[in-house]
Amino acid sequence: MAMKKLEGKVAIITGGASGIGEETARVFADHGARAVVIADIQDEQGYRVAESIGPKCSYVHCDVTDEGQVKRMVESTVQIHGQLDIMFSNAGIGGASDQTLLDLDFSEFDRIFATNVRGMTVCVKQAARVMMERRVRGSIVCTASVAGSKGGKTHTDYYMSKHAVIGLVRSASRQLGEHGIRVNSVSPYTVATPMLCKTYEKEVEEAEKFFESFTSLKGIVLKVKHVADAALFLASDDSAFISGHDLIVDGGLSTAASWS
Ligand SMILES: NC(=O)c1ccc[n+]([C@@H]2O[C@H](COP(=O)([O-])OP(=O)(O)OC[C@H]3O[C@@H](n4cnc5c(N)ncnc54)[C@H](O)[C@@H]3O)[C@@H](O)[C@H]2O)c1
Repeated sequence: MAMKKLEGKVAIITGGASGIGEETARVFADHGARAVVIADIQDEQGYRVAESIGPKCSYVHCDVTDEGQVKRMVESTVQIHGQLDIMFSNAGIGGASDQTLLDLDFSEFDRIFATNVRGMTVCVKQAARVMMERRVRGSIVCTASVAGSKGGKTHTDYYMSKHAVIGLVRSASRQLGEHGIRVNSVSPYTVATPMLCKTYEKEVEEAEKFFESFTSLKGIVLKVKHVADAALFLASDDSAFISGHDLIVDGGLSTAASWS
């Protein structure tokens, strides 16, 4: 491999047992991270992924909707590894695919907000707290979405939750900048992860084929590796002067006029 971009760094990845988080754990480890901690609620899968990456990767059960669990997970990471340089706050859930504003079920709305907004915020808060205490010029990266800057015909609560993530990133970057902590988001278009396939009730190939038809960039399908590489850029010193930025990974979709 060419230059390793995370040599000696300690990273936490929430939602690292599957999809984008899992691939990012592999990419961070390949790039020389000293420790990669996967925090998730899918224990069996989380342990399996950590084991497949090797001894520098570990799994911790942590439900991001519970601030106490996140605080303990962050503190134990610092205790075991001596530092926290990177928080990839990525855990998230999808919603009912055909739901519109008029169909909104508020218990489902609350469930999505508890993970995608509150959980994301708790992780940013707890990571920032230890980075500040230890005077680490850390990097916090959140997974937002193309749904964070556009309106949706369906998935109202999911779109709203991802807008909130971008608001969190912008505010946190303003507040934490004076401590040298950068906060950014990565915003993928649709990637055929278990979450997406479940939400749209499609198999991987079928989902990729369907969503490929909407992007401007042809001959390439968005894969988890593309998103992990964007997260790596934001986590590493390659983006040393970038903060408060939403890095959209959508093959040009969001800049295209929908009528031409
Ligand atoms: N797949 C896409 O098309 C897509 C597009 C844009 C944004 N995203 C975002 O990417 C992120 C990762 O999703 P993915 O597509 O890799 O899905 P995924 O389902 O493969 O992975 C999400 C992981 O988050 C974990 N998780 C869920 N709730 C949790 C909680 N309360 N505490 C801890 N962990 C929890 C799950 O167990 C799972 O392992 C999410 O924030 C999602 O909204 C996904």
